Amino acid sequence: MSTLIDGKALAAKLRAELKEKIAAFSEEKGRQIGLAVVLVGEDPASQVYVRNKIKACEEVGIRSYSYHLPAAAQEQDVEALVSELASSDNVDGILVQLPLPKHLDAEKILRLIPPAKDVDGFSAENVGNLAMHRESIVACTPFGVMKMLEEYGIDPKGKSAVVLGRSNIVGKPMAMLLINADATVTVCHSKTRDLKAVCAGADILVVAIGRAKFVTADMVKEGAVVIDVGMDRDENGKLCGDVDFENVKEKASFITPVPGGVGPMTITMLLYNTYIAAARR
Ligand code: GUN
Repeated sequence: MSTLIDGKALAAKLRAELKEKIAAFSEEKGRQIGLAVVLVGEDPASQVYVRNKIKACEEVGIRSYSYHLPAAAQEQDVEALVSELASSDNVDGILVQLPLPKHLDAEKILRLIPPAKDVDGFSAENVGNLAMHRESIVACTPFGVMKMLEEYGIDPKGKSAVVLGRSNIVGKPMAMLLINADATVTVCHSKTRDLKAVCAGADILVVAIGRAKFVTADMVKEGAVVIDVGMDRDENGKLCGDVDFENVKEKASFITPVPGGVGPMTITMLLYNTYIAAARR
């Protein structure tokens, strides 16, 4: 049997701590911390994510500036908005919700966010600083995973860590954070040979591939720490992760559930990054 890593409880604890720090900041500086959230189009999932981010801001005392542009918005209109936010004194962090409609040049738009306001940690400067183990703003999901490991006393130092997935948002920054924490890191993806054996060698297994219940018990070492970043639907339409939780929990020493694991930590780290961006300004 494994210990459940309770992301919901940890997120609540960190948000309560942040609320106090943010109140002290606002009192001292005589201004509110501001996060600008830009949504373009009507993607239902993005609308839910953005709503949750704005609500979370309110709860900890961050002022949110919400911009919802129509799906047919012109490139120059989105660019003009992001440029204006980039130079606004009220705005400490800028988040452009992805994916953007296909006719827009997402890379060009994201490049208009100054690295100091890039609270998603997506910019080349922040990613590069992370790779070089310098001060940076770290992508929210992998940052949240590191906080969970820390909270449960799991030190990656000297351990074999396997990251399943190589996305710019999760897999790659996750691997860099684990390297910086002195783990021996392997990154797997769809072309990896003998994936099962590689995963079965992991002391810490972080799964972010977006395939429901992909990681089965035979891919997990007895006593491994299993972190599930997935948000999928099973054959009955029920929310589940990338890990076959019911069977894997019998072998793992620690495991994150879905929902209630990594998910609540992601928005918490966005709030944290916004606070850090304001404090460093
Ligand atoms: N779309 C899905 N996840 C994310 C995220 O973490 N940040 C942004 N900006 N867009 C997303």
